[in-house]
Amino acid sequence: MERAWWKEAVVYQIYPRSFMDLNGDGVGDLNGITSRLDYLKELGVDVIWLSPVYQSPNDDNGYDISDYQAIMKEFGTMEDFDRMLAGIHERGMKLVMDLVVNHTSDEHRWFVESRSAKDNPYRDYYIWREGKDGKEPNNWGSAFSGSAWQYDDATQMYYLHLFSKKQPDLNWDNPKVRDEVFSMMNWWCEKGIDGFRMDVISLISKPEGLPDGQMFPGMEYSPIPCANGPHVHEYLREMNREVLSKYDLITVGECAGVTIEEAKKYASLDGSELNMVFQFDHVGIGDAEHGKWTDRRVDLVELKKVLDGWQTGLAGQAWNSLYFSNHDQPRSLSRFGDDREEYRVVSAKMLATCLHMMQGTPYVYQGEELGMTNCPFPSIDDVRDIESINAYKEMTESGKITPEDMIRYIRLRGRDNARTPMQWDDGKNAGFTEGTPWIMVNPNYTRINAKQQTADPDSVFHYYKKLIALRKEEPVIVYGSYEPYQQENESLYMYIRRLEDAKLFVVCNFTDQEQTVALPEDFAEGSVLITNQENAGVQHEMTIGAYGAVVIRR
Ligand code: GLC
Ligand code: CA
Repeated sequence: MERAWWKEAVVYQIYPRSFMDLNGDGVGDLNGITSRLDYLKELGVDVIWLSPVYQSPNDDNGYDISDYQAIMKEFGTMEDFDRMLAGIHERGMKLVMDLVVNHTSDEHRWFVESRSAKDNPYRDYYIWREGKDGKEPNNWGSAFSGSAWQYDDATQMYYLHLFSKKQPDLNWDNPKVRDEVFSMMNWWCEKGIDGFRMDVISLISKPEGLPDGQMFPGMEYSPIPCANGPHVHEYLREMNREVLSKYDLITVGECAGVTIEEAKKYASLDGSELNMVFQFDHVGIGDAEHGKWTDRRVDLVELKKVLDGWQTGLAGQAWNSLYFSNHDQPRSLSRFGDDREEYRVVSAKMLATCLHMMQGTPYVYQGEELGMTNCPFPSIDDVRDIESINAYKEMTESGKITPEDMIRYIRLRGRDNARTPMQWDDGKNAGFTEGTPWIMVNPNYTRINAKQQTADPDSVFHYYKKLIALRKEEPVIVYGSYEPYQQENESLYMYIRRLEDAKLFVVCNFTDQEQTVALPEDFAEGSVLITNQENAGVQHEMTIGAYGAVVIRR
């Protein structure tokens, strides 16, 4: 397989609003990030991905952009940005920017123009339609509840917004829109950034004629039917020609609704579109009648089928991204591991082992390297996320879910679990801010914080550091083939990696009970590469403790 730096890299995601507040206004900022670059360097990550830092009215925390070439006032200035970028490069790391171009903010200049008159030159930058029988043009629902259409008084037509009504969708079928986006991307590349994470890029090409979507029982609107639309690959190839191919970048597309077959096009190793995609199959396991608003646990066999399927499905044709958490997901430790204090550290290390030993580029979400957990939000008033707030209203007002259950589901699945402030130390506000934080600090910061863990060689932090370092030493971790092992085993996640003479056997216990396993092939003659338990050496019959993980190299 062809080598590439972005295959060998580990990416660290920063949610700037919650990472580090240096000026004391309660909101994280760019200078705060710059002040913590040494921490990231120590961890050993190669690439930093920043969630959006552009000018935005913050209806969806920066995923609603009003100026793509300006920095959000709360986060700092363009000079602060340049200093941060220089600091990242000085330390030998790279910077990935979030590219949010399925939609803009309704406060973007283009939309202000577009909504002003039907014959405005920017009208066709967005998707405007007449109503149908006094109602919305079709039955599409917004990802943030309600219809995906908003009636606009000025011209008495509806505009499409797959997300909040302050996030109108751009019309990618208009070549002028594509030109604007590509020239903005080139501007950032000329500034020296090193890549893009492309927000909901699988949704940019809407189906011809915007037909009604499929309805499901109990739903008022149809779930977004725009994934992998008719021209999405054509537009990404154009983007690749006009921008991406001119620079040495890392690119990852966030692809809601992507299948393995589609991913082979988005992330083809021929380099015609993107380097890799974020797929959603494994984070949607257990979703039920009301989507993610449920307390169902993830079934291990299902998880293995999904992830093994992506590993073997893309083999030799496309590249995987590896993630358990990000700013849209609950804390991975609480979801896939066990956040009870007695198992917190061991299960955080186990999950990291399971993910980082697969083939693909691993993503670490801020605080994951500390084993941060979901947050016990006392009430809906403590929640800040537009998705959770809207869903709470919709579900409780319609009587579909009681308020007690809904806040419980938000504590399990809400996006704010990942957005509480980074836990730097055991001082005031976890060392995140001198002021009042924009969202509550998880009360467990006195036990779980970076200061304590950087000083403790047995911490989750040091385990991540070791995993990341191993990636640089063992090519089999990056380039080896992947073979599922005993997929039906309900307690252990196991697989084999091979590259020429080297091979790895990975075994991860997803339960709080001890398990035993007979090593396959000649692994009994191997040695332990990394483990989260007492290293008892290698035997043919291995005992794996609660949430234990062992990687054996042969
Ligand atoms: C993506 C982002 C999410 C945002 C949405 C709309 O899924 O990751 O945070 O709300 O797109 O931009
Ligand atoms: Ca600040």
